[in-house]
Amino acid sequence: MYASKISDVEGLIRQQDEWRNRCINLIASENVMSRRARACAGSDFAHRYAEGHPGERYYRGTTYIDMIENQLTANLRVLFECDHCEVRPISGTNANEAVFSRFVKPGDVVMVNSTPGGGHISHHRMGSLGKFTRNIIDFPLTRDGYHIDVEKAAYLIEKARPKLIVVGKSLFLFPEPVQELAEVCRHTHTLLMYDGAHVLGLIAGKQFQNPIKEGAFLVTGSTHKTFYGSQRGLILSSMDEEPWRKIDRGAEYHLAVGVELAYVDDLAVRKLRLDLLDPPLGEALLLAGGVILGVFLEIAMGSGLGNRRGDLRTHHGLEVGQFLAKPFRSAGGEGYFVHVCASRFFKRFRRRCCR
Ligand SMILES: Cc1ncc(COP(=O)(O)O)c(C=O)c1O
Repeated sequence: MYASKISDVEGLIRQQDEWRNRCINLIASENVMSRRARACAGSDFAHRYAEGHPGERYYRGTTYIDMIENQLTANLRVLFECDHCEVRPISGTNANEAVFSRFVKPGDVVMVNSTPGGGHISHHRMGSLGKFTRNIIDFPLTRDGYHIDVEKAAYLIEKARPKLIVVGKSLFLFPEPVQELAEVCRHTHTLLMYDGAHVLGLIAGKQFQNPIKEGAFLVTGSTHKTFYGSQRGLILSSMDEEPWRKIDRGAEYHLAVGVELAYVDDLAVRKLRLDLLDPPLGEALLLAGGVILGVFLEIAMGSGLGNRRGDLRTHHGLEVGQFLAKPFRSAGGEGYFVHVCASRFFKRFRRRCCR
């Protein structure tokens, strides 16, 4: 009885795999995991602990994982052109929570993108940030209800003196005004965090803004959206050593204490695949997808949003572009996924913009 139940489950797993192989995935926060990364997922690391840091673990038997983690963080620092990289978060939300836990105290003011403006629940009272402060205010938006109104935001930052502002969103169509906001934040000693969950692969592939270079203090992200791997998170920064210790040493208990390291090794593999990604092809896919998405936005919303910023090379554009690239994918290009923006997003904007 028990054995037959297990085979039932195994059968369902096979069915899922077969079905997925025949699918075009339209979900923005998912992708097609690289075959090499997938092969790593069943390794011995899948059920090992590695709490602590390489060379100073609380567990034994971590020689190889230490080597992988050291190599991985070194590679990622090069890839993202930053000084620090934390690979222990088990997801983007977990990465956000680790940051909030170290830099936000009860009562601190934090400014974020509202959820109707595309922001993520982990930046809100009901999510991770709400565990540390209730003083959360939304960025003022431009009339289209999407972009941060930089002038009004600057005024509000001067007035409210937030401890932290969080840019980046789930509905990530355009680059965020990091440079402009970072300038204001310098006056007010406000920390600027960039949630790059949805665009991490594009940042890695140099197809989007570089938030750290533009002045973000911290970048968080998921490794399974445009960074085509399994579900993990990352924290990146070029801050000084001392504040970084808050994350490196202090955030341990907001990260994965009993670290399930199955996917740290596939992150290393994935990074190699990113290096192999053909830049002209990636660029062409982004441009093609961006043009189609722009036209679609114009027609669907009639709002001018499609070409106002002239840059729709976000993951949504990438996904449309990759829809065009299915033949490339079946010829061996791994890690590509397709997404035609979430319908709830369009419905909301349509209501707002076409009134
Ligand atoms: C902006 C943003 N941040 C964080 C997350 C959470 O990422 P994860 O699912 O890796 O926890 C998401 C999820 O989609 C997101 O859209």
